Amino acid sequence: MKLHHHISKIPTEYTLPLRQKVLKPFLHADDCVNPGDDAPTTFHLGLFHERKLVTICTFLSEPHKDFNSGNPYRLRGMATDPNYSGQGFGQILLQHGMVLLKNQYCDLLWCNARIKAFPFYEKMGFYYHGPLFEMDRIGPHKVMYKYLIPR
Ligand SMILES: CC(C)(COP(=O)(O)OP(=O)(O)OC[C@H]1O[C@@H](n2cnc3c(N)ncnc32)[C@H](O)[C@@H]1OP(=O)(O)O)[C@@H](O)C(=O)NCCC(=O)NCCS
Repeated sequence: MKLHHHISKIPTEYTLPLRQKVLKPFLHADDCVNPGDDAPTTFHLGLFHERKLVTICTFLSEPHKDFNSGNPYRLRGMATDPNYSGQGFGQILLQHGMVLLKNQYCDLLWCNARIKAFPFYEKMGFYYHGPLFEMDRIGPHKVMYKYLIPR
């Protein structure tokens, strides 16, 4: 695991090039803005390795209809630059985000996970919910979730 990194909150604009490169190569970077990106309750985290932004993720205050939660958050735009994947950066960043969420009494984190990312989320302690569903131009997904505060 690489140790030379730092994590900070970043503005939406910083996330766009990696979102485009890793998650939505069929779009322009400018079109990779998601609804709620600039909401006051939303935050974006970036992990910098040797001053280069290599991993990003976004947390939005958003319920999911199937879950009973007082303070649910949704994880979106989780991506590591492929040149840096498999080096532990995704794990470090998501772990950091979950600590921040717990500190603000978020009890549930959920996401729409791509099949390719299932092993990553499993490793991070997420569970599956419901059937596979298709997302346009991206492919099959499943809802995955993790309770952050013991119930
Ligand atoms: C999923 C993603 C964010 C993981 O980031 P990363 O920085 O490569 O992940 P890490 O190196 O921290 O991996 C953490 C653990 O998950 C495992 N893992 C990560 N991606 C994996 C994959 N595709 N298949 C199997 N295991 C995987 C790693 O092996 C590691 O386990 P280990 O500690 O036992 O070695 C990254 O692969 C990515 O950007 N993928 C493409 C975009 C994507 O699918 N994002 C999620 C959208 S839902």
